[in-house]
Amino acid sequence: MHVEVYPDSEALAHGAATHFVRLAAAAIAEHGRFSVALAGGSTPEAMHRALASEAFAPRVDWERVHVFWGDERCVPPDHAESNYRMARETLLDGVPIPARNVHRMRAEIGPEAAADEYEAALRAFFGADGPPRLDLIFLGMGDDGHTASLFPGTAAVHETAGWVAAHHVAKLGAWRVTLTPAVLNAAANVIFLVAGAHKAARLREVLHGPYQPDALPAQVVKPAAGRLLWLVDQAAVA
Ligand code: 6PG
Repeated sequence: MHVEVYPDSEALAHGAATHFVRLAAAAIAEHGRFSVALAGGSTPEAMHRALASEAFAPRVDWERVHVFWGDERCVPPDHAESNYRMARETLLDGVPIPARNVHRMRAEIGPEAAADEYEAALRAFFGADGPPRLDLIFLGMGDDGHTASLFPGTAAVHETAGWVAAHHVAKLGAWRVTLTPAVLNAAANVIFLVAGAHKAARLREVLHGPYQPDALPAQVVKPAAGRLLWLVDQAAVA
């Protein structure tokens, strides 16, 4: 595990975009394409905007980039809560990525159906033997220690057979579709983006406290043969 501390959230966004460019070039050089899962929530927005800017977009071979999601809310793709909508507005509409390279979780068709469909889509793209090895998975962390839609006290935190889980999250009173630890821990690179003083206490527990994934699901992310990187701002490590 490696932690990079940035002075503020803008610097964090640029640091993350720099890692994206670097990892995309390496993956494309190595195997002709770059598979990346985007995180939801608000923290990734600044990174997405940076990636779509003149400073970064021309440095990515978007034709060979394939975008997936770590999780999705069970809402239509144009809904305010949709992780896809956020990514489309802050990144995808601003870069020349082919529509066929955008692999959306169609969570609006219903949680179980969407999970089954997405697992099939992952098998079709990555092959069927063993969990898919994405080149990069971006993750956020909630102030309760959740990541993707792996929330404290949910069985999905321990799911290693299925690749995509659908569950009703009591805390939210909402259904979510999420990649499971099987896929998160098969990735070649996992990058957490954590910013803000309100996450500092939890981040300290996750990084330095005892291993308790039921309470702190972010701790379950330990890529078996991949690199784990935490990009945090100064406020989150204060
Ligand atoms: C989601 C995300 C979730 C997010 C954290 C942090 O769908 O909400 O996948 O895991 O990364 O809740 O969210 P913020 O970046 O908004 O703090």
